[in-house]
Amino acid sequence: MNYETILVEQRGAVTLVTLNRPKALNALNGRVLSELLHAMAAFDADPSQGCAVLTGSEKAFAAGADIKEMQAQGFADMYGHDFFAGWDAFTRTRKPVIAAVAGYALGGGCEVAMMCDFILAADTARFGQPEIKLAVSPGMGGSQRLARAVGKAKAMEMCLTGRMIDAEEAERAGLVSRIVPAADLVEEAIKTAATIAGMAPLAVKANKEMVNAAFDMGLSQGVQFERRLFHGLFGTQDQKEGMAAFVEKRAGVWTGK
Ligand code: CAA
Repeated sequence: MNYETILVEQRGAVTLVTLNRPKALNALNGRVLSELLHAMAAFDADPSQGCAVLTGSEKAFAAGADIKEMQAQGFADMYGHDFFAGWDAFTRTRKPVIAAVAGYALGGGCEVAMMCDFILAADTARFGQPEIKLAVSPGMGGSQRLARAVGKAKAMEMCLTGRMIDAEEAERAGLVSRIVPAADLVEEAIKTAATIAGMAPLAVKANKEMVNAAFDMGLSQGVQFERRLFHGLFGTQDQKEGMAAFVEKRAGVWTGK
């Protein structure tokens, strides 16, 4: 596929995907979605790749879904085509994806960042769900993921007023894992992704799956799910290698089996 709205490069075992519609502040349209899904499917299928980083520009991770694309649509178009349902496929990426956010992550931009496995924020990052100012609402999962990430009070205030929060407030609220200086954001995200890519691949998938399960399951069901995956990892060669390497005081060498 010939990408027009994203840039994709491999840095060792890390796939770096950069949203690239600078004139529209990386507004997310149908083309961005189809290119992103294509890139994530290729990343997931490539055994040389262990973790991805999704980033934008210094000014904007993404300023939302493309308002100009949606403006003329009616209910029949949106409901009939289940508009935004395609983004669910992004969340089915099995390997981890880190969002590296600088500048605006608004509306759909904030929602896509939250679809990633965690968010690293530049000190310039600003998060918000301003859809209410357009007389609409989040539509890509924002009301659900934001409420789970920051709790009801802050999610409700953000959705009802459109107020943006800065990186400090986002970190305090648990929306981002940590803040780094803007100039270091992408390199720091790649470094973190490389650490993850250096772990045993099946253990990475299992850890991602079980933490995500915490947002879908009740506690006892989630604990049971975790335990079954944990048991399952004892059927892998890499578990034998990982524990032998610890006992022998050396680094593990993974086969992904
Ligand atoms: N969709 C389409 N185009 C957008 C856009 C969006 N979400 N956000 C910015 N742009 C475009 C602007 O129209 C402008 O294009 P032109 O030069 O052709 O006029 C260009 O990007 C630069 O934007 P501004 O001139 O507005 O830049 P600024 O620095 O003055 O302001 C901003 C930056 C505060 C982020 C402002 O652009 C803004 O408020 N953007 C819209 C934010 C928003 O409402 N997002 C939610 C969208 S709806 C949604 O996402 C639904 C959902 O739940 C998924």
